[in-house]
Amino acid sequence: MKDPGGFLTRLSTDSDDSPDRLLQHLIAIQHHHSYIPDEAVRRLSERLGTPAVEIFSVIAYYAFLHRHPRGQFDIYFSDNITDRMLGNKALMEGMCKKLGVEPGVPRADGKVTIDMTSCTGMCDQGPALLVNGMAVTRLTEERIHKMVGLIEAGVPAAKWPKRFFVVKDNIQRKDMLLSDYIIRGSAIDALNVKGGDAILESLDASNLRGRGGAGFKTATKWRFCREAPGAEHYVVCNADEGEPGTFKDRLLLHSYANCVIEGMTLCAGVIGAKKGFIYLRGEYLYLVEALEKTLQDRRDANLLGEKIRGKPGFDFDIEIHLGAGAYVCGEESALIESLEGKRGIPRQRPPFPVVSGYRNRPTVVNNVETFVAAAHIAVFGADWFKSSGTGDSTGTKLFSVSGDCAKPGIYEYPFGVTIRQVLEDCGASDTQAVQLSGAAGSTIPPQEFYRHIAFEDVPTGGSFMIFNQKRDLLKMVLNFTRFFCHESCGFCTPCRIGGRLMNDLVEKVMVGYATSYDISELKKIGLVMKKTAHCGLGSTAPNPVLDTLKKFPGTYSKRLINTSYEPAFNLESALEVSRHLTGRDDERAHLELGN
Ligand SMILES: Cc1cc2nc3c(=O)[nH]c(=O)nc-3n(C[C@H](O)[C@H](O)[C@H](O)COP(=O)(O)O)c2cc1C
Ligand code: SF4
Repeated sequence: MKDPGGFLTRLSTDSDDSPDRLLQHLIAIQHHHSYIPDEAVRRLSERLGTPAVEIFSVIAYYAFLHRHPRGQFDIYFSDNITDRMLGNKALMEGMCKKLGVEPGVPRADGKVTIDMTSCTGMCDQGPALLVNGMAVTRLTEERIHKMVGLIEAGVPAAKWPKRFFVVKDNIQRKDMLLSDYIIRGSAIDALNVKGGDAILESLDASNLRGRGGAGFKTATKWRFCREAPGAEHYVVCNADEGEPGTFKDRLLLHSYANCVIEGMTLCAGVIGAKKGFIYLRGEYLYLVEALEKTLQDRRDANLLGEKIRGKPGFDFDIEIHLGAGAYVCGEESALIESLEGKRGIPRQRPPFPVVSGYRNRPTVVNNVETFVAAAHIAVFGADWFKSSGTGDSTGTKLFSVSGDCAKPGIYEYPFGVTIRQVLEDCGASDTQAVQLSGAAGSTIPPQEFYRHIAFEDVPTGGSFMIFNQKRDLLKMVLNFTRFFCHESCGFCTPCRIGGRLMNDLVEKVMVGYATSYDISELKKIGLVMKKTAHCGLGSTAPNPVLDTLKKFPGTYSKRLINTSYEPAFNLESALEVSRHLTGRDDERAHLELGN
């Protein structure tokens, strides 16, 4: 069992009995036993004072937690559309066949389970999978063959060749954030010299906006939190990075971790927080060891802990909190619920986290990249930052480029760069569409490649997936509708039911049984979801369908069945049951499709 730096073992011996630790305890038990036995639930219930039924509901909520044994080797293939384009399905089928495994079902000898999971954030070096929580990238038939041998021989994943687990940074273009390193401690020194007011003024003047997607002004968020009543304030770094096609925070957490933590400490000093969290997606377990080391190095250097840089009252420390495979936990209020050890159901807002966040105390939640930018601004100033970008979108942005191009990876550009420029630089040709900002984002056709990536034109949280002319865009759409069905937390009807209906209708288009009535249904359901869903997941889930219907109508129209009536369900496949029961499969037992 892989346990980077003994982190999971430490979790399992964690003596903290606060109910907030529930999810962390469950993750440790899952890693230890490959599932969470009922007996462990009973003990946890007694220890934390959390009802067992609540613990069972938390287990059911997170994709990486299970009540029944998984294989000794627990494998999840990443299933983003870019993994599909790189052949993940055939590789998974091949592996299942070689090992004699049904997807999702542990092998009878308990040795291995093989499953699919949502995007694991390795799209620039896919296809990828997780084995016992650790990422294996650049899968090939040969690599799969070797893995099968290691599994059959019972070689623990910790002893597999190191090259399997290499995750490259893959920086293809650097600009101000990735080139101009700040010296460790320099943003904290700037705060101690200038004071919180001056740092806030500088952030305000820089016009830094959040890099997690919504683009809320960072200075305003920090100021609201600073001014919110109550002695206990918190800082949270949103490192959930679950949006399909997004992997730029992976780089920052790996190679710029000091800068991320510097930004969090700066924020703590400004808002008066003593405690912070890095909410790290479970898929990035491999980053934990280095992150823990960076935190310890900073404690040793008096950059975390008590009296930071000798300043009385400046006490702040950071804990890593792992996620367990739930995309919606990237939504800030769901993330806070998850930090409190609960199911990640998004909260009603207002109140916003800056007033009532973690433990109902004022909390700043920022994206990883936002903290890096804030630390740079504290050191180099607002003018330096504003020298790049556009009026409404100052500074630079990291893009995660993947799909049909010669050079996938991380690209840093000043805001305002055109889509065409990025395509040229990454060696894309014959491009049919770019999916910006992930599954919830927008699909851009070639006639719009002149557009600028910026909050005032086309915004993005960072994902930039490229599809050439040979690709079937409906496969992309279907991958995303399945993703949203899978990731819906089920709390509200429009998303829980609407998402499923949209997915079924897209499947119907895909197999060639849909009519124009189904298309109008897709539009109707999409609009209802946009207007009535409880959180951003449900309100953005229809985007890929609505956007492609508008910009790529031929993708749908060429598949519509030519029929004089408009069935609301798939009659041909419904007849399959009666064909089976009557033992008939002659011509007259089928509809006359296509006539
Ligand atoms: C479904 C959903 C998933 C999200 N996932 C992330 C994420 O992985 N990382 C992130 O920084 N923000 C994510 N967000 C946005 C956060 O709710 C929040 O706006 C952000 O963390 C604020 O940080 P910022 O101001 O620095 O952008 C997500 C939002 C939604 C609706
Ligand atoms: S929109 Fe979806 S993810 Fe958000 S609360 Fe409703 S069901 Fe949950």
